[in-house]
Amino acid sequence: MSIDPTTTAAWQRLNDIAETFTIDLREVFENEPARASALSFEAGDLYVDMSKNLITDEVIDALLELAGEVGVADYRAKMFAGDKINVTEDRAVLHTALRREESDELTVDGQDVIADVHAELAKVYEFADKVRSGEWVGITGKRITHVVNIGIGGSDLGPKMAYEALKPYVQDGLQCRFVSNIDPSDIYENTVDLDPETTLFIIASKTFTTLETLTNARLARTWLLDKLRAAGALDGVADNDAVAKHFVAVSTALDKVADFGIDPDNAFGFWDWVGGRYSVDSAIGTALAVAIGADRFEEFLSGFRAIDEHFATAEAKDNVPLLLGLLNIWYVNFLGAESHAVLPYAQYLHRFPAYLQQLTMESNGKSVRADGSYIEYDTGEIFWGEPGTNGQHAFYQLIHQGTRLIPCDFIAVAKPTHALEDGDNDVHELFLANFFAQTKALAFGKTEEEVIVEGTPEHIVPARVFEGNKPSTSIMAPELSPKVLGELIALYEHITFVQGAVWGIDSFDQWGVELGKQLAKELTPAIAGDEQALADADASTRALIEYYRGKRA
Ligand code: F6P
Repeated sequence: MSIDPTTTAAWQRLNDIAETFTIDLREVFENEPARASALSFEAGDLYVDMSKNLITDEVIDALLELAGEVGVADYRAKMFAGDKINVTEDRAVLHTALRREESDELTVDGQDVIADVHAELAKVYEFADKVRSGEWVGITGKRITHVVNIGIGGSDLGPKMAYEALKPYVQDGLQCRFVSNIDPSDIYENTVDLDPETTLFIIASKTFTTLETLTNARLARTWLLDKLRAAGALDGVADNDAVAKHFVAVSTALDKVADFGIDPDNAFGFWDWVGGRYSVDSAIGTALAVAIGADRFEEFLSGFRAIDEHFATAEAKDNVPLLLGLLNIWYVNFLGAESHAVLPYAQYLHRFPAYLQQLTMESNGKSVRADGSYIEYDTGEIFWGEPGTNGQHAFYQLIHQGTRLIPCDFIAVAKPTHALEDGDNDVHELFLANFFAQTKALAFGKTEEEVIVEGTPEHIVPARVFEGNKPSTSIMAPELSPKVLGELIALYEHITFVQGAVWGIDSFDQWGVELGKQLAKELTPAIAGDEQALADADASTRALIEYYRGKRA
Protein backbone atom coordinates (compact mmCIF):
# COMPACT_ATOMS: atom_id res chain seq x y z
CA MET A 1 0.00 0.00 0.00
CA SER A 2 1.67 3.29 -1.01
CA ILE A 3 1.49 6.05 1.51
CA ASP A 4 -0.79 8.95 0.72
CA PRO A 5 1.61 11.79 1.55
CA THR A 6 -1.27 14.08 2.47
CA THR A 7 -1.97 11.88 5.51
CA THR A 8 1.44 12.58 7.04
CA ALA A 9 2.07 15.06 9.83
CA ALA A 10 4.77 16.72 7.71
CA TRP A 11 2.32 17.39 4.86
CA GLN A 12 -0.01 19.05 7.34
CA ARG A 13 2.88 21.05 8.73
CA LEU A 14 3.89 22.16 5.22
CA ASN A 15 0.29 23.15 4.52
CA ASP A 16 0.25 25.27 7.66
CA ILE A 17 3.54 26.90 6.76
CA ALA A 18 2.38 27.55 3.19
CA GLU A 19 -0.86 29.19 4.34
CA THR A 20 0.93 32.23 5.69
CA PHE A 21 4.21 31.85 3.84
CA THR A 22 5.95 34.97 2.62
CA ILE A 23 9.58 35.53 1.94
CA ASP A 24 11.53 38.51 0.74
CA LEU A 25 14.77 37.28 -0.78
CA ARG A 26 16.31 40.75 -0.57
CA GLU A 27 15.66 40.83 3.13
CA VAL A 28 16.82 37.32 3.88
CA PHE A 29 20.05 37.85 1.97
CA GLU A 30 20.64 41.05 3.94
CA ASN A 31 19.79 39.48 7.29
CA GLU A 32 21.40 36.09 6.80
CA PRO A 33 24.93 36.53 5.51
CA ALA A 34 25.50 32.77 5.70
CA ARG A 35 22.45 31.85 3.60
CA ALA A 36 24.27 31.44 0.29
CA SER A 37 26.93 29.17 1.73
CA ALA A 38 24.47 27.25 3.91
CA LEU A 39 22.29 26.49 0.90
CA SER A 40 25.06 25.69 -1.57
CA PHE A 41 26.10 22.06 -1.95
CA GLU A 42 28.47 19.89 -3.88
CA ALA A 43 27.65 16.60 -5.54
CA GLY A 44 30.38 15.09 -7.69
CA ASP A 45 31.68 17.96 -9.81
CA LEU A 46 28.43 19.89 -9.51
CA TYR A 47 28.12 23.03 -7.41
CA VAL A 48 24.47 23.62 -6.62
CA ASP A 49 23.26 26.89 -5.14
CA MET A 50 19.71 26.63 -3.79
CA SER A 51 19.84 29.87 -1.83
CA LYS A 52 17.71 31.87 -4.29
CA ASN A 53 14.73 29.61 -3.65
CA LEU A 54 11.63 30.42 -1.65
CA ILE A 55 12.67 28.36 1.34
CA THR A 56 13.49 28.78 4.99
CA ASP A 57 15.08 26.41 7.50
CA GLU A 58 11.58 25.58 8.68
CA VAL A 59 10.45 24.60 5.16
CA ILE A 60 13.52 22.43 4.61
CA ASP A 61 13.04 20.78 7.95
CA ALA A 62 9.40 19.96 7.19
CA LEU A 63 10.29 18.66 3.71
CA LEU A 64 12.94 16.37 5.17
CA GLU A 65 10.40 15.20 7.71
CA LEU A 66 8.04 14.43 4.83
CA ALA A 67 10.74 12.40 3.09
CA GLY A 68 11.21 10.48 6.33
CA GLU A 69 7.50 9.85 6.83
CA VAL A 70 6.87 8.54 3.32
CA GLY A 71 10.04 6.44 3.42
CA VAL A 72 12.12 7.90 0.57
CA ALA A 73 15.33 6.36 1.96
CA ASP A 74 13.85 2.86 2.11
CA TYR A 75 12.46 3.20 -1.37
CA ARG A 76 15.85 4.40 -2.62
CA ALA A 77 17.52 1.36 -1.04
CA LYS A 78 14.99 -0.86 -2.78
CA MET A 79 15.76 0.70 -6.15
CA PHE A 80 19.51 0.25 -5.75
CA ALA A 81 19.01 -3.34 -4.57
CA GLY A 82 16.88 -4.35 -7.54
CA ASP A 83 13.53 -4.79 -5.78
CA LYS A 84 10.58 -4.74 -8.15
CA ILE A 85 9.49 -1.18 -7.43
CA ASN A 86 8.01 -0.82 -10.94
CA VAL A 87 4.92 -2.56 -9.66
CA THR A 88 2.58 -2.17 -12.62
CA GLU A 89 5.11 -3.88 -14.86
CA ASP A 90 6.46 -6.12 -12.10
CA ARG A 91 10.03 -5.07 -12.80
CA ALA A 92 13.14 -3.99 -10.97
CA VAL A 93 14.40 -0.47 -11.66
CA LEU A 94 18.12 -0.83 -12.06
CA HIS A 95 19.46 1.88 -14.31
CA THR A 96 21.95 2.58 -11.52
CA ALA A 97 23.45 -0.89 -12.20
CA LEU A 98 24.40 0.26 -15.71
CA ARG A 99 27.21 2.36 -14.27
CA ARG A 100 28.46 0.28 -11.37
CA GLU A 101 32.11 -0.79 -11.28
CA GLU A 102 32.96 -4.19 -12.70
CA SER A 103 34.23 -5.25 -9.27
CA ASP A 104 30.81 -4.64 -7.69
CA GLU A 105 28.34 -7.42 -7.09
CA LEU A 106 24.61 -7.47 -7.66
CA THR A 107 22.52 -10.51 -8.36
CA VAL A 108 18.82 -10.09 -9.01
CA ASP A 109 16.47 -13.01 -9.71
CA GLY A 110 19.51 -15.18 -10.36
CA GLN A 111 20.98 -12.73 -12.89
CA ASP A 112 24.53 -11.53 -12.27
CA VAL A 113 23.59 -8.02 -13.21
CA ILE A 114 27.03 -6.43 -13.03
CA ALA A 115 28.69 -9.15 -15.09
CA ASP A 116 25.98 -8.87 -17.76
CA VAL A 117 26.22 -5.09 -17.88
CA HIS A 118 29.98 -5.19 -18.37
CA ALA A 119 29.84 -7.99 -20.93
CA GLU A 120 27.42 -5.94 -23.03
CA LEU A 121 29.46 -2.78 -22.59
CA ALA A 122 32.50 -4.66 -23.83
CA LYS A 123 30.58 -5.67 -26.97
CA VAL A 124 29.48 -2.08 -27.56
CA TYR A 125 33.03 -0.81 -27.09
CA GLU A 126 34.46 -3.43 -29.45
CA PHE A 127 31.96 -2.42 -32.10
CA ALA A 128 32.62 1.29 -31.50
CA ASP A 129 36.37 0.75 -31.83
CA LYS A 130 35.89 -1.10 -35.10
CA VAL A 131 33.83 1.70 -36.61
CA ARG A 132 36.17 4.39 -35.30
CA SER A 133 39.30 2.65 -36.55
CA GLY A 134 37.88 1.89 -39.97
CA GLU A 135 38.04 -1.85 -39.40
CA TRP A 136 34.26 -2.02 -39.82
CA VAL A 137 33.55 -1.24 -43.43
CA GLY A 138 30.42 -1.12 -45.56
CA ILE A 139 29.57 -3.66 -48.23
CA THR A 140 31.83 -1.97 -50.79
CA GLY A 141 34.76 -1.83 -48.38
CA LYS A 142 34.49 1.87 -47.52
CA ARG A 143 34.83 3.08 -43.95
CA ILE A 144 31.78 4.41 -42.12
CA THR A 145 31.42 8.19 -41.98
CA HIS A 146 27.78 8.52 -40.88
CA VAL A 147 25.91 6.70 -38.14
CA VAL A 148 22.13 7.11 -38.20
CA ASN A 149 20.37 6.17 -34.95
CA ILE A 150 16.75 5.24 -35.55
CA GLY A 151 14.71 5.21 -32.35
CA ILE A 152 12.14 7.25 -30.49
CA GLY A 153 11.50 8.41 -26.91
CA GLY A 154 14.21 7.03 -24.67
CA SER A 155 15.82 5.33 -27.64
CA ASP A 156 16.40 8.73 -29.25
CA LEU A 157 16.26 11.60 -26.79
CA GLY A 158 19.14 10.43 -24.59
CA PRO A 159 21.63 9.50 -27.31
CA LYS A 160 20.75 12.59 -29.33
CA MET A 161 21.00 14.96 -26.39
CA ALA A 162 24.30 13.43 -25.26
CA TYR A 163 25.75 13.46 -28.79
CA GLU A 164 24.90 17.15 -29.13
CA ALA A 165 26.27 17.91 -25.66
CA LEU A 166 29.54 16.12 -26.34
CA LYS A 167 30.09 17.20 -29.95
CA PRO A 168 33.56 18.54 -29.20
CA TYR A 169 34.57 14.96 -28.29
CA VAL A 170 33.27 13.38 -31.50
CA GLN A 171 35.95 11.79 -33.70
CA ASP A 172 36.83 13.78 -36.80
CA GLY A 173 35.29 12.29 -39.92
CA LEU A 174 32.38 10.72 -38.04
CA GLN A 175 28.91 12.17 -37.78
CA CYS A 176 25.78 10.85 -36.06
CA ARG A 177 22.25 11.63 -37.08
CA PHE A 178 19.03 10.79 -35.30
CA VAL A 179 15.75 9.82 -36.90
CA SER A 180 12.76 9.46 -34.60
CA ASN A 181 9.58 10.86 -36.10
CA ILE A 182 7.34 8.74 -38.29
CA ASP A 183 6.81 11.88 -40.34
CA PRO A 184 8.63 10.74 -43.50
CA SER A 185 10.31 14.13 -43.70
CA ASP A 186 12.52 13.13 -40.79
CA ILE A 187 14.19 10.16 -42.44
CA TYR A 188 14.18 11.93 -45.79
CA GLU A 189 16.08 14.95 -44.46
CA ASN A 190 18.52 12.80 -42.52
CA THR A 191 19.46 10.54 -45.42
CA VAL A 192 19.03 12.72 -48.50
CA ASP A 193 22.68 13.77 -48.62
CA LEU A 194 24.20 10.52 -47.35
CA ASP A 195 26.23 7.96 -49.23
CA PRO A 196 24.81 4.49 -48.50
CA GLU A 197 28.26 2.95 -48.87
CA THR A 198 29.52 4.88 -45.84
CA THR A 199 26.34 4.93 -43.74
CA LEU A 200 25.57 2.67 -40.80
CA PHE A 201 22.14 2.47 -39.18
CA ILE A 202 21.60 1.67 -35.52
CA ILE A 203 18.03 0.53 -34.89
CA ALA A 204 17.44 1.31 -31.22
CA SER A 205 14.27 0.06 -29.62
CA LYS A 206 13.85 -1.48 -26.21
CA THR A 207 10.81 -3.49 -27.28
CA PHE A 208 11.53 -3.69 -31.02
CA THR A 209 7.80 -3.27 -31.59
CA THR A 210 7.54 0.51 -31.78
CA LEU A 211 5.69 1.52 -34.93
CA GLU A 212 7.71 4.64 -35.63
CA THR A 213 11.06 2.92 -35.25
CA LEU A 214 10.23 -0.21 -37.20
CA THR A 215 8.68 1.83 -40.01
CA ASN A 216 11.76 4.04 -40.21
CA ALA A 217 14.01 0.98 -40.03
CA ARG A 218 12.22 -0.55 -43.03
CA LEU A 219 12.47 2.76 -44.91
CA ALA A 220 16.18 2.86 -44.13
CA ARG A 221 16.69 -0.69 -45.40
CA THR A 222 14.85 0.13 -48.62
CA TRP A 223 16.85 3.34 -49.00
CA LEU A 224 20.10 1.49 -48.49
CA LEU A 225 19.38 -1.39 -50.85
CA ASP A 226 17.85 0.80 -53.59
CA LYS A 227 20.78 3.19 -53.56
CA LEU A 228 23.39 0.45 -53.48
CA ARG A 229 21.63 -1.39 -56.27
CA ALA A 230 21.40 1.76 -58.38
CA ALA A 231 25.14 2.26 -57.91
CA GLY A 232 25.80 -1.33 -59.03
CA ALA A 233 27.18 -2.13 -55.58
CA LEU A 234 24.88 -5.08 -55.05
CA ASP A 235 25.83 -7.05 -58.15
CA GLY A 236 26.39 -10.58 -56.94
CA VAL A 237 25.76 -9.59 -53.36
CA ALA A 238 22.83 -10.87 -51.28
CA ASP A 239 20.66 -8.16 -49.71
CA ASN A 240 21.18 -9.67 -46.28
CA ASP A 241 24.95 -9.41 -46.60
CA ALA A 242 24.59 -5.70 -47.30
CA VAL A 243 22.16 -5.27 -44.42
CA ALA A 244 24.62 -7.03 -42.09
CA LYS A 245 27.31 -4.46 -42.92
CA HIS A 246 25.06 -1.43 -42.59
CA PHE A 247 22.60 -2.28 -39.80
CA VAL A 248 23.08 -3.04 -36.15
CA ALA A 249 20.42 -3.06 -33.45
CA VAL A 250 20.01 -2.30 -29.77
CA SER A 251 17.15 -3.95 -27.93
CA THR A 252 15.98 -6.08 -25.04
CA ALA A 253 14.15 -8.27 -27.58
CA LEU A 254 16.96 -9.89 -29.55
CA ASP A 255 14.58 -12.48 -31.06
CA LYS A 256 12.62 -9.67 -32.72
CA VAL A 257 15.87 -8.14 -33.98
CA ALA A 258 16.61 -11.42 -35.76
CA ASP A 259 13.06 -11.52 -37.19
CA PHE A 260 13.68 -8.09 -38.66
CA GLY A 261 16.69 -9.45 -40.51
CA ILE A 262 19.51 -8.04 -38.44
CA ASP A 263 22.20 -10.56 -37.53
CA PRO A 264 21.99 -11.15 -33.73
CA ASP A 265 25.81 -10.94 -33.72
CA ASN A 266 25.32 -7.30 -34.65
CA ALA A 267 22.87 -6.61 -31.84
CA PHE A 268 23.51 -5.16 -28.41
CA GLY A 269 21.20 -6.00 -25.57
CA PHE A 270 19.90 -4.53 -22.37
CA TRP A 271 17.26 -5.63 -19.91
CA ASP A 272 13.66 -5.00 -18.94
CA TRP A 273 14.84 -3.42 -15.69
CA VAL A 274 16.15 -0.42 -17.66
CA GLY A 275 13.36 2.01 -18.47
CA GLY A 276 13.57 3.62 -21.94
CA ARG A 277 13.98 7.10 -20.48
CA TYR A 278 16.72 5.82 -18.16
CA SER A 279 18.68 3.99 -20.85
CA VAL A 280 21.18 6.41 -22.39
CA ASP A 281 23.96 4.80 -20.38
CA SER A 282 23.08 1.29 -21.63
CA ALA A 283 23.68 -0.05 -25.14
CA ILE A 284 21.09 2.53 -26.21
CA GLY A 285 24.07 4.89 -26.07
CA THR A 286 25.88 2.93 -28.82
CA ALA A 287 25.77 5.85 -31.27
CA LEU A 288 27.37 8.01 -28.59
CA ALA A 289 29.99 5.35 -27.84
CA VAL A 290 30.89 5.24 -31.54
CA ALA A 291 31.06 9.01 -31.69
CA ILE A 292 33.18 9.68 -28.59
CA GLY A 293 34.89 6.31 -28.06
CA ALA A 294 35.00 3.84 -25.21
CA ASP A 295 37.26 5.87 -22.89
CA ARG A 296 35.02 8.93 -23.04
CA PHE A 297 31.94 6.75 -22.63
CA GLU A 298 33.54 5.32 -19.49
CA GLU A 299 34.03 8.88 -18.21
CA PHE A 300 30.37 9.53 -18.97
CA LEU A 301 29.41 6.51 -16.84
CA SER A 302 31.70 7.63 -14.04
CA GLY A 303 29.68 10.84 -13.79
CA PHE A 304 26.45 8.93 -13.23
CA ARG A 305 28.25 6.81 -10.66
CA ALA A 306 29.48 9.84 -8.73
CA ILE A 307 25.93 11.13 -8.33
CA ASP A 308 24.53 7.66 -7.55
CA GLU A 309 27.04 7.41 -4.72
CA HIS A 310 26.17 10.86 -3.48
CA PHE A 311 22.44 10.12 -3.61
CA ALA A 312 22.87 6.77 -1.86
CA THR A 313 25.20 7.96 0.88
CA ALA A 314 25.05 11.73 1.52
CA GLU A 315 23.22 12.79 4.64
CA ALA A 316 19.69 13.95 3.96
CA LYS A 317 20.47 17.57 4.81
CA ASP A 318 23.26 17.67 2.19
CA ASN A 319 21.78 15.27 -0.33
CA VAL A 320 21.36 17.33 -3.50
CA PRO A 321 18.90 15.15 -5.48
CA LEU A 322 16.85 14.63 -2.33
CA LEU A 323 16.75 18.34 -1.54
CA LEU A 324 15.97 19.37 -5.12
CA GLY A 325 13.22 16.76 -5.41
CA LEU A 326 11.70 17.97 -2.16
CA LEU A 327 12.01 21.56 -3.29
CA ASN A 328 9.93 20.68 -6.35
CA ILE A 329 7.33 19.12 -4.04
CA TRP A 330 7.22 22.38 -2.09
CA TYR A 331 6.63 24.41 -5.22
CA VAL A 332 4.11 22.06 -6.82
CA ASN A 333 2.04 20.97 -3.83
CA PHE A 334 2.27 23.92 -1.48
CA LEU A 335 2.99 27.04 -3.56
CA GLY A 336 1.02 26.03 -6.69
CA ALA A 337 3.74 25.94 -9.34
CA GLU A 338 2.67 24.10 -12.47
CA SER A 339 5.82 24.19 -14.50
CA HIS A 340 9.56 24.14 -14.10
CA ALA A 341 12.03 25.78 -16.46
CA VAL A 342 15.46 24.30 -17.21
CA LEU A 343 17.76 26.90 -18.67
CA PRO A 344 21.18 25.66 -19.72
CA TYR A 345 23.75 28.37 -20.32
CA ALA A 346 25.67 25.99 -22.58
CA GLN A 347 24.66 25.80 -26.21
CA TYR A 348 25.81 22.19 -26.39
CA LEU A 349 23.06 21.35 -23.88
CA HIS A 350 20.36 22.60 -26.22
CA ARG A 351 18.54 19.23 -26.21
CA PHE A 352 18.74 18.82 -22.44
CA PRO A 353 15.29 20.33 -21.69
CA ALA A 354 13.69 18.06 -24.33
CA TYR A 355 15.46 15.08 -22.80
CA LEU A 356 14.25 16.06 -19.33
CA GLN A 357 10.69 16.35 -20.57
CA GLN A 358 10.53 12.62 -21.16
CA LEU A 359 12.50 11.77 -18.04
CA THR A 360 10.34 13.82 -15.72
CA MET A 361 6.93 13.93 -17.39
CA GLU A 362 6.70 10.32 -18.56
CA SER A 363 7.89 9.30 -15.10
CA ASN A 364 5.75 11.47 -12.91
CA GLY A 365 2.69 12.36 -14.99
CA LYS A 366 0.45 10.00 -13.04
CA SER A 367 -2.86 10.30 -11.24
CA VAL A 368 -2.95 7.00 -9.39
CA ARG A 369 -0.61 5.78 -6.72
CA ALA A 370 1.45 2.64 -7.16
CA ASP A 371 -1.28 0.65 -5.42
CA GLY A 372 -3.92 1.91 -7.87
CA SER A 373 -5.59 4.36 -5.49
CA TYR A 374 -6.52 7.75 -6.93
CA ILE A 375 -4.50 10.84 -6.16
CA GLU A 376 -5.97 14.08 -4.94
CA TYR A 377 -2.87 16.26 -5.09
CA ASP A 378 -0.83 17.50 -8.00
CA THR A 379 1.96 15.41 -9.49
CA GLY A 380 4.40 15.85 -12.36
CA GLU A 381 5.09 19.48 -13.21
CA ILE A 382 5.60 20.55 -16.82
CA PHE A 383 9.29 20.75 -17.66
CA TRP A 384 10.39 23.09 -20.40
CA GLY A 385 13.23 25.33 -21.41
CA GLU A 386 15.69 26.57 -23.97
CA PRO A 387 19.32 27.51 -23.73
CA GLY A 388 20.21 30.93 -22.39
CA THR A 389 20.63 33.53 -23.73
CA ASN A 390 18.09 32.65 -26.44
CA GLY A 391 15.35 32.18 -23.86
CA GLN A 392 16.04 35.65 -22.46
CA HIS A 393 14.85 37.16 -25.72
CA ALA A 394 11.80 34.94 -25.92
CA PHE A 395 9.99 33.85 -22.75
CA TYR A 396 11.93 35.24 -19.77
CA GLN A 397 9.58 38.24 -19.76
CA LEU A 398 6.86 35.97 -18.39
CA ILE A 399 9.16 34.53 -15.75
CA HIS A 400 10.30 37.98 -14.60
CA GLN A 401 7.06 39.91 -14.70
CA GLY A 402 4.24 37.45 -15.36
CA THR A 403 1.82 36.22 -12.74
CA ARG A 404 2.94 32.59 -12.55
CA LEU A 405 5.37 30.96 -10.21
CA ILE A 406 8.02 29.20 -12.32
CA PRO A 407 10.95 27.67 -10.47
CA CYS A 408 13.99 27.74 -12.76
CA ASP A 409 17.15 25.66 -12.91
CA PHE A 410 20.07 27.56 -14.41
CA ILE A 411 22.96 25.39 -15.57
CA ALA A 412 26.40 26.71 -16.59
CA VAL A 413 30.01 25.63 -16.85
CA ALA A 414 33.08 27.62 -15.86
CA LYS A 415 35.40 26.62 -18.68
CA PRO A 416 34.36 27.52 -22.22
CA THR A 417 34.63 24.87 -24.91
CA HIS A 418 35.57 27.58 -27.40
CA ALA A 419 37.36 30.49 -25.79
CA LEU A 420 36.64 33.27 -28.25
CA GLU A 421 37.26 36.96 -27.85
CA ASP A 422 35.38 39.91 -29.28
CA GLY A 423 37.86 42.76 -29.12
CA ASP A 424 38.81 42.97 -25.45
CA ASN A 425 35.83 40.90 -24.36
CA ASP A 426 36.01 37.26 -23.45
CA VAL A 427 32.73 36.11 -24.96
CA HIS A 428 32.23 33.27 -22.47
CA GLU A 429 32.39 35.87 -19.71
CA LEU A 430 29.74 37.96 -21.44
CA PHE A 431 27.67 34.80 -21.61
CA LEU A 432 28.17 33.97 -17.93
CA ALA A 433 27.41 37.56 -16.96
CA ASN A 434 23.93 36.89 -18.32
CA PHE A 435 23.64 33.69 -16.31
CA PHE A 436 24.58 35.45 -13.07
CA ALA A 437 22.47 38.50 -13.91
CA GLN A 438 19.33 36.54 -14.61
CA THR A 439 19.25 34.66 -11.31
CA LYS A 440 19.99 37.92 -9.50
CA ALA A 441 17.25 39.82 -11.32
CA LEU A 442 14.76 37.05 -10.65
CA ALA A 443 15.56 36.85 -6.97
CA PHE A 444 15.97 40.50 -6.07
CA GLY A 445 14.01 42.34 -8.73
CA LYS A 446 13.90 46.09 -8.98
CA THR A 447 11.78 48.20 -6.65
CA GLU A 448 9.53 51.12 -7.50
CA GLU A 449 11.99 53.48 -5.81
CA GLU A 450 14.84 52.19 -7.90
CA VAL A 451 12.82 52.63 -11.05
CA ILE A 452 11.84 56.19 -10.10
CA VAL A 453 15.43 57.15 -9.25
CA GLU A 454 16.37 56.25 -12.82
CA GLY A 455 14.12 59.10 -13.98
CA THR A 456 11.41 56.84 -15.37
CA PRO A 457 8.22 58.75 -16.33
CA GLU A 458 5.66 58.12 -13.61
CA HIS A 459 3.05 56.43 -15.81
CA ILE A 460 5.40 53.64 -16.85
CA VAL A 461 6.96 53.04 -13.45
CA PRO A 462 4.72 50.01 -12.62
CA ALA A 463 5.56 48.37 -15.94
CA ARG A 464 9.27 48.65 -15.14
CA VAL A 465 9.14 47.27 -11.61
CA PHE A 466 10.49 43.75 -11.09
CA GLU A 467 8.81 42.10 -8.16
CA GLY A 468 11.70 39.70 -7.45
CA ASN A 469 11.26 36.59 -5.31
CA LYS A 470 11.25 34.44 -8.43
CA PRO A 471 12.97 31.22 -7.41
CA SER A 472 15.97 29.70 -9.11
CA THR A 473 18.59 27.06 -8.50
CA SER A 474 22.02 27.55 -10.03
CA ILE A 475 23.97 24.48 -11.06
CA MET A 476 27.58 25.00 -12.08
CA ALA A 477 30.29 22.59 -13.17
CA PRO A 478 33.92 23.07 -14.16
CA GLU A 479 33.32 22.15 -17.83
CA LEU A 480 30.92 20.24 -20.06
CA SER A 481 32.87 16.99 -20.03
CA PRO A 482 31.42 13.49 -20.51
CA LYS A 483 31.65 13.02 -16.75
CA VAL A 484 29.76 16.21 -15.97
CA LEU A 485 27.06 15.31 -18.48
CA GLY A 486 26.64 11.94 -16.72
CA GLU A 487 26.39 13.79 -13.43
CA LEU A 488 23.71 16.13 -14.71
CA ILE A 489 21.61 13.28 -16.08
CA ALA A 490 21.89 11.21 -12.90
CA LEU A 491 21.02 14.28 -10.84
CA TYR A 492 17.72 14.70 -12.65
CA GLU A 493 17.03 10.96 -12.63
CA HIS A 494 17.22 11.00 -8.86
CA ILE A 495 15.28 14.24 -8.47
CA THR A 496 12.53 12.58 -10.49
CA PHE A 497 12.78 9.51 -8.28
CA VAL A 498 12.40 11.54 -5.09
CA GLN A 499 9.30 13.30 -6.36
CA GLY A 500 7.74 10.01 -7.43
CA ALA A 501 8.57 8.49 -4.05
CA VAL A 502 6.88 11.32 -2.18
CA TRP A 503 3.84 11.18 -4.45
CA GLY A 504 3.65 7.41 -3.96
CA ILE A 505 3.47 6.75 -7.69
CA ASP A 506 5.15 4.29 -10.02
CA SER A 507 7.59 6.57 -11.83
CA PHE A 508 8.74 3.74 -14.06
CA ASP A 509 5.70 2.78 -16.11
CA GLN A 510 4.15 4.79 -18.97
CA TRP A 511 0.68 3.43 -19.61
CA GLY A 512 -0.43 6.89 -20.68
CA VAL A 513 1.15 6.49 -24.10
CA GLU A 514 -0.77 3.33 -24.97
CA LEU A 515 -4.22 4.64 -25.88
CA GLY A 516 -2.94 6.95 -28.61
CA LYS A 517 -0.93 4.11 -30.16
CA GLN A 518 -3.98 1.83 -30.14
CA LEU A 519 -6.28 4.46 -31.67
CA ALA A 520 -3.75 5.31 -34.38
CA LYS A 521 -3.85 1.67 -35.42
CA GLU A 522 -7.63 1.64 -35.39
CA LEU A 523 -7.90 4.83 -37.45
CA THR A 524 -5.40 3.85 -40.13
CA PRO A 525 -8.03 2.03 -42.28
CA ALA A 526 -10.40 5.01 -42.11
CA ILE A 527 -7.65 7.27 -43.41
CA ALA A 528 -6.81 4.80 -46.16
CA GLY A 529 -10.42 4.73 -47.43
CA ASP A 530 -12.35 2.18 -45.37
CA GLU A 531 -15.81 3.80 -45.30
CA GLN A 532 -17.13 1.72 -42.42
CA ALA A 533 -14.13 2.59 -40.26
CA LEU A 534 -14.70 6.24 -41.14
CA ALA A 535 -18.39 6.01 -40.23
CA ASP A 536 -17.41 4.46 -36.88
CA ALA A 537 -15.24 7.43 -35.95
CA ASP A 538 -16.60 10.27 -33.79
CA ALA A 539 -17.90 13.33 -35.64
CA SER A 540 -14.86 15.52 -35.04
CA THR A 541 -12.32 12.86 -36.05
CA ARG A 542 -14.47 11.94 -39.07
CA ALA A 543 -14.50 15.55 -40.27
CA LEU A 544 -10.74 15.84 -39.84
CA ILE A 545 -10.14 12.66 -41.83
CA GLU A 546 -12.54 13.85 -44.53
CA TYR A 547 -10.64 17.14 -44.72
CA TYR A 548 -7.43 15.16 -45.14
CA ARG A 549 -8.88 12.95 -47.84
CA GLY A 550 -10.20 15.95 -49.73
CA LYS A 551 -6.91 17.85 -49.67
CA ARG A 552 -4.59 14.89 -50.21
CA ALA A 553 -6.28 13.93 -53.47
O1 F6P B 1 6.66 6.63 -25.35
C1 F6P B 1 6.53 5.35 -24.85
C2 F6P B 1 7.79 4.59 -24.93
O2 F6P B 1 7.55 3.30 -24.48
C3 F6P B 1 8.95 5.22 -24.16
O3 F6P B 1 8.90 4.96 -22.81
C4 F6P B 1 10.11 4.63 -24.86
O4 F6P B 1 11.29 5.31 -24.54
C5 F6P B 1 9.67 4.80 -26.30
O5 F6P B 1 8.29 4.52 -26.27
C6 F6P B 1 10.37 3.94 -27.29
O6 F6P B 1 10.21 2.58 -27.01
P1 F6P B 1 11.15 1.49 -27.63
O7 F6P B 1 12.56 1.79 -27.19
O8 F6P B 1 10.65 0.19 -27.11
O9 F6P B 1 11.05 1.58 -29.13
